[in-house]
Amino acid sequence: MAEMLVFETAEAGAQVVADHIAQAVRASSAFTLGVATGSSPLPVYAALARHAAGGADFSRVSAFALDEYVGLPAGHPQSYAEVVAREVTEPLGLDPALVRVPDGGAEGIETAGDRYEEALIEHGGVDLQLLGIGATGHLGFNEPGSSFASPTRVKTLTERTRQDNARFFDSVDDVPMHCVTQGLGTILRARHLVLLAFGEGKADAVAAAAEGPVTASMPGSAIQLHPRVTVVLDEAAASRLAHRDYYAWAQRHKPAWQGI
Ligand code: GLP
Repeated sequence: MAEMLVFETAEAGAQVVADHIAQAVRASSAFTLGVATGSSPLPVYAALARHAAGGADFSRVSAFALDEYVGLPAGHPQSYAEVVAREVTEPLGLDPALVRVPDGGAEGIETAGDRYEEALIEHGGVDLQLLGIGATGHLGFNEPGSSFASPTRVKTLTERTRQDNARFFDSVDDVPMHCVTQGLGTILRARHLVLLAFGEGKADAVAAAAEGPVTASMPGSAIQLHPRVTVVLDEAAASRLAHRDYYAWAQRHKPAWQGI
């Protein structure tokens, strides 16, 4: 079962995750972090940036992003390559040469998924994958119906996801129709999954992903198939969990030697 951790605030949960990552990097600087975009991981990046400002050295950390839009011009501020550079690579002091994002350029798009999959495998995979969850239950951009065995590939976004992401663009018409996303099969190969969800708007998706049936109709439910998952929530995102009391009990009685 996933470990379910509930905190009073997103910042408190994010600090625990960032402390864990900083500790893992101290133990082995050649750590590989799977980075997600969206608002959910931002407090983790902010806490990691504080570690960097305090002297932590992330310059040998490699990073692989989950997904990218197809067809945005290079340098577009909302391309995930730019978002990752702005929110992760620069504030944490990562080496840009060690940061990979799927290639969403229209040219060669047919092979973009395979190329990314090969790069991930050649690198030796991801140690810790940060994940958000979309309102449709998507992980990365794996919309409902995505196979649990799926590799990195081109997907068509749902209308709901395009509407949700329209806030980053001038209008919904500017949100790309397609993306390249790590598959659920790719994500499940990461050695540790850390799913972050904050706010009431995520409560249904979190409950369905963690406690509902394991089904391709709820891509987030893939986490139930992984041997090491930590779900980090605030009270609002945890509010529809059936076993909320048990999670709080287990969190209070967690063996002192256990990290996340
Ligand atoms: C985007 C990303 C996902 C992310 C989701 C949720 O669609 N591709 O990886 O999990 O948004 O975003 P937020 O964390 O802002 O709610």
